[in-house]
Amino acid sequence: ALVSLRQLLDHAAEHDYGLAAFNVNNMEQVHAIMQAADEVNSPVILQGSAGARKYAGEAFLRHLVLAAIETYPHIPVVMHQDHGQSPAVCIQAIRSGFSSVMMDGSLMEDAKTPSTYQYNVDVTRKIVEIAHAIGVSVEGELGVLGSLETGLAGEEDGSGAVGVLNHDQMLTDPEEAADFVRRTGVDALAIAIGTSHGAYKFSKPPTGKTLAISRIKEIHARIPNTHLVMHGSSSVPQEWLQIINEFGGDMGETYGVPVEEIVEGIKHGVRKINIDTDLRMAYTGSIRKFFTEKRKEFDPRKFLSASTVAMRAICKERYEAFGSAGQA
Ligand code: G3H
Ligand code: 13P
Ligand code: NA
Ligand code: ZN
Repeated sequence: ALVSLRQLLDHAAEHDYGLAAFNVNNMEQVHAIMQAADEVNSPVILQGSAGARKYAGEAFLRHLVLAAIETYPHIPVVMHQDHGQSPAVCIQAIRSGFSSVMMDGSLMEDAKTPSTYQYNVDVTRKIVEIAHAIGVSVEGELGVLGSLETGLAGEEDGSGAVGVLNHDQMLTDPEEAADFVRRTGVDALAIAIGTSHGAYKFSKPPTGKTLAISRIKEIHARIPNTHLVMHGSSSVPQEWLQIINEFGGDMGETYGVPVEEIVEGIKHGVRKINIDTDLRMAYTGSIRKFFTEKRKEFDPRKFLSASTVAMRAICKERYEAFGSAGQA
């Protein structure tokens, strides 16, 4: 059944678990996420970015999610617009039946220039007024996502860096978060706590202090009734990195956010964990391997099935680690 983000995250908060929010662009990704959820009985958040809308087309994206809901009627599913860059994108999503939208006012509509605080408050409050009138949830974002290691922010839309920031700009301020929530009424808030989008988050193996856990605690203490969202939460599986490179790919050395640190974040109020890159890597690695090993095959269903199996395994691991398994 289609549920709102608020309903699902309230349940997660009550029962101390977190929900992976996977980005979807096509049928195989939706299959993988839903098959794994069905296997371990987990609720699901399916989210589409502006890029996904552009790639699949709005109707295809929406109907993929509706097909998932029809196929698995016993699983609660949120249909979420990821990184709505303008009120117009959010309103389009609301009109077409999404049960949740992210109004990302942390950047201007070009998705590159950091916005002013007042702009963010104004656009987000506007969307909350419209969405809440019809039971749709809203996620806001405060602070610019970026790697604490490099000081590089960007790729909010996958189109490149927005610039180099100092340490302070890269962590959401707890007082500002409290003010933002009071002024906007958002259901969930994406916070900047050291993660960045894409595969290239950290150049060195994790030391156990990838995330600013103390900052998560401070923010959660100030806004205990607002669900915290962590973007850029891919773990960048080293096994898939190796497979990609072993079978003709060329990805550089890179590391993501360790699952154990995400689990620590969930203990302190993180409820929605955005993951795109991990599934992209499993998708690509499995197909590269298939093409090398099964050179006589030319039926796309064969290699796409291999990719579905690969992505499904990651989804299942995340549902289990984040504690959403058994909660549907
Ligand atoms: O927030 C970024 C997500 O990974 C979506 O990426 O804009 O390339 O679809 P995309
Ligand atoms: P990753 O690039 O770490 O998978 O993050 C995805 C994301 O935050 C989508 O909004
Ligand atoms: Na989002
Ligand atoms: Zn994101």
